[in-house]
Amino acid sequence: MQLYDDNPTLAGVAKELDESKQGEVFYREYAQPATIAGERLFYIESYGCQMNFSDSEIVASILAESGFRPTRDVEVADLILINTCSIREKAEETVRKRLRVFDQLKRNKPGTMVGVLGCMAERLKAKFLEEEKLVDLVVGPDAYRDLPALVATADDGGKGINVYLSREETYADINPLRLDSNGVAAFISIMRGCDNMCSFCVVPFTRGRERSRDAFSIIAEATELYQRGYREVTLLGQNVDSYKWQNPETEQVVNFAALLEMTAQVHPDLRVRFSTSHPKDITDEVLHTMAAHENICKYIHLPVQSGNSRILELMNRTYDREWYMARIEAIRRIVPECAISSDIIAGFCSETEAEHQDTLSMIEYADYSMSYMFFYSERPGTLAARKYPDDIPLEVKKRRLQEIIRLQAQVSFRHNQRDIGRTFKVLIEGDSRRSSDDFCGRNTQNKMTVFPKVGQYKPGDYVNVKVLEATSATLIGEIVD
Ligand code: 5AD
Ligand code: SF4
Repeated sequence: MQLYDDNPTLAGVAKELDESKQGEVFYREYAQPATIAGERLFYIESYGCQMNFSDSEIVASILAESGFRPTRDVEVADLILINTCSIREKAEETVRKRLRVFDQLKRNKPGTMVGVLGCMAERLKAKFLEEEKLVDLVVGPDAYRDLPALVATADDGGKGINVYLSREETYADINPLRLDSNGVAAFISIMRGCDNMCSFCVVPFTRGRERSRDAFSIIAEATELYQRGYREVTLLGQNVDSYKWQNPETEQVVNFAALLEMTAQVHPDLRVRFSTSHPKDITDEVLHTMAAHENICKYIHLPVQSGNSRILELMNRTYDREWYMARIEAIRRIVPECAISSDIIAGFCSETEAEHQDTLSMIEYADYSMSYMFFYSERPGTLAARKYPDDIPLEVKKRRLQEIIRLQAQVSFRHNQRDIGRTFKVLIEGDSRRSSDDFCGRNTQNKMTVFPKVGQYKPGDYVNVKVLEATSATLIGEIVD
């Protein structure tokens, strides 16, 4: 298959980060205009988690195989795709708003096809086609191989829908088309679905049962990325610690620690990250593997959700406050330089002020370098929606969230201030967002670092950066030898 990210017309794709007040993060993805006349063009926009961005690259690869080319210009696209997120109500509202814009484009340019992919497609199924008359395709996360056939159905004037959830699909053999690439860092999806059934979460319903991808295909993908100049891979899964794949020939079982080790051995200059870890599943073996390899980044995203044991029980997180604290202690003991980040939900069903205080004290205790913070949003069909009243008033949820955000900003600031005077190895990712005189890149702890360009360094190079200043979000420094 042709690798489109080697194509200079696809270089420098814009990534827009729009952080809303509630701490939701959406990325929007654009591909560059194609130049060959007569080809059908697709445009894809992604919302939600990293997994969705990774999936969009699989979708792009499948479409490229069937004669489509990517465009960054939605107005010229023959096929407009929106890869959607259902995790919170607000995420769905954002998608609905974008669909109004696409409706208008379709009126201006009849024949344009609009497809809804991902979690909202899976959650709403055929209802989507009733509610959104101008939508032609509704395709769930496990049905992307069917896209060319569904497009053909729509070409014939029908509606294309496939929301079948698979127990096997991992897209292991598909070489993702790196749409939004800086050519330095890439995502590799290692598993799909989630079996955890956290009571607030819609993901098990939209992404189905957990399944792990063939370890050899993962290592092959990492190796190929390294050979093409990439220097960082992030192994992605809803719950990477439950990765488990059995080699059908040797019957040998590869767990996450083993996969991490295999990936680290691809090349010492290929950095390895991973996300997301579950506090109940992250093992000491994983931590020892991290400690043993310099190129496994010292950073763990370990969502706590709440710092209170009663709320954690209602959330069905299967650990309590003490268990979580013990995992933090294990990380500090085995990987002392490791930064830890979190996801936090404010105002879950029946949460008291004292229980909210437990979440605040956990932020202090865990000394998170950063967190993604949300207020609870009831999702239809989840265990919490069926069992517990959503009884915390919106103003209270918002006030608690603000308290969490304010404290996390202080803790992040303190965390970063401690780095002043220290020198870190940083992988250059590209120009800083503020100035083309500066580069940006992350250190092992996943902290964004900005520093003036000097010498012949280029994206993909490692440099040593001495930190001179720090905000709650960024380290600012200079290259030292
Ligand atoms: N309401 C608010 N936040 C949620 N998350 C998942 N479901 C909900 C919900 N219903 C958050 C969790 C999860 C992150 C991806 O999104 O913190 O870790
Ligand atoms: Fe949702 Fe919990 Fe699975 Fe994460 S681990 S995707 S929060 S069910």
